[in-house]
Amino acid sequence: MSKRLLVTGSSGLIGSEVSMHFAQLGYELHGVDNNQRAVFFGPQGDTRWNQYRLLSELPGFQHHELDIRDRAGVLALVKQINPHVIIHTAAQPSHDRAAAIPFDDFDTNAVGTLNLLEAARQACPESPFVHMSTNKVYGDAPNRIALRELETRWDYADSAYVDGIAETFTIDQSKHSLFGASKVAADVMVQEYGRYFNMPTCCLRGGCLTGPNHSGVELHGFLSYLVKCNLEGRGYKVFGYKGKQVRDNIHATDVARFMEAFVNAPRVGEVYNLGGGKANSTSILEAFKTTEKFTGKAQNFTYVETNRIGDHICYYSDLRKMRAHYPDWDITISLEETIRQIVESWKTRKN
Ligand SMILES: NC(=O)c1ccc[n+]([C@@H]2O[C@H](COP(=O)([O-])OP(=O)(O)OC[C@H]3O[C@@H](n4cnc5c(N)ncnc54)[C@H](O)[C@@H]3O)[C@@H](O)[C@H]2O)c1
Repeated sequence: MSKRLLVTGSSGLIGSEVSMHFAQLGYELHGVDNNQRAVFFGPQGDTRWNQYRLLSELPGFQHHELDIRDRAGVLALVKQINPHVIIHTAAQPSHDRAAAIPFDDFDTNAVGTLNLLEAARQACPESPFVHMSTNKVYGDAPNRIALRELETRWDYADSAYVDGIAETFTIDQSKHSLFGASKVAADVMVQEYGRYFNMPTCCLRGGCLTGPNHSGVELHGFLSYLVKCNLEGRGYKVFGYKGKQVRDNIHATDVARFMEAFVNAPRVGEVYNLGGGKANSTSILEAFKTTEKFTGKAQNFTYVETNRIGDHICYYSDLRKMRAHYPDWDITISLEETIRQIVESWKTRKN
């Protein structure tokens, strides 16, 4: 009998990748999604196309139209499925959007996560529980690191950060955005269910997670949205920091591969900074150039002096803890290849 995997946010970027990946490993897939991304971001954020793709490409895939804020519904579904693994990727994912919808943001990110954790504790406390957290739990504290300005990007001037930001970095006393704060609540709760109840939980504090199946919008999914703007000749708005702000990008496939590694050898209450690392980092200006290489079109953009509130100037993840705990895992998809795939995907979707 195949193992059952419950994945929340299954129509989203990471949830759909997880579904494809674990289906190939022989898991019975149960996806939870209610297309809330279209409510958060309007029609451009609609993820139904991805839900239908999973239903057509994965014969055994079962879609559950459920809002993770529905506590009774979550408790009943987890009890009914009794999954061997839970991967939680459903979220309100934008820090800019959160300020306009604070209740929806907190209820989804913090309370929704608690609903799932408690459902797991009641029904399947031994099943690995993987939670997608975010590097926004560090708030804007990374901006306090001394920086040096290079021609096309910012970089850390402090040698302590030559490998990037590690999991020991403070999450306290900085500006997070309401989104970052709701994700901190979830992150700490996931750790607590691990340590307090001895459950195999982990938080993956994502850098920029991306790939061809992202429904990128201005407020979330920067590479996907940047490529879309390039292809459509639409103006991309750069918010502050001279366009030299640095993000590390990890392809959703490498995210799913790390989740597989954790599920196969779970630990209790762990935290990992899951990004592309320095090798897969790019500034916005550099991302324009890489995209232009694949589309042949010049990027049309405007510059807005004011940066986004709490936005990181330079962030890349220190991947050494992940590599030490799971030596068979590493990044396998380069930034260039990721951008190439995003370009191809938008071209297909536009057609
Ligand atoms: N994409 C990134 O760059 C990034 C970076 C860091 C962390 N993360 C985290 O990774 C996770 C996945 O991100 P993503 O990029 O795949 O996001 P996404 O928006 O593409 O996918 C999330 C999915 O969850 C669904 N959803 C939202 N609220 C829901 C609710 N109340 N009930 C049921 N379904 C709901 C949405 O409809 C969407 O399909 C999130 O927790 C996000 O915070 C993402």
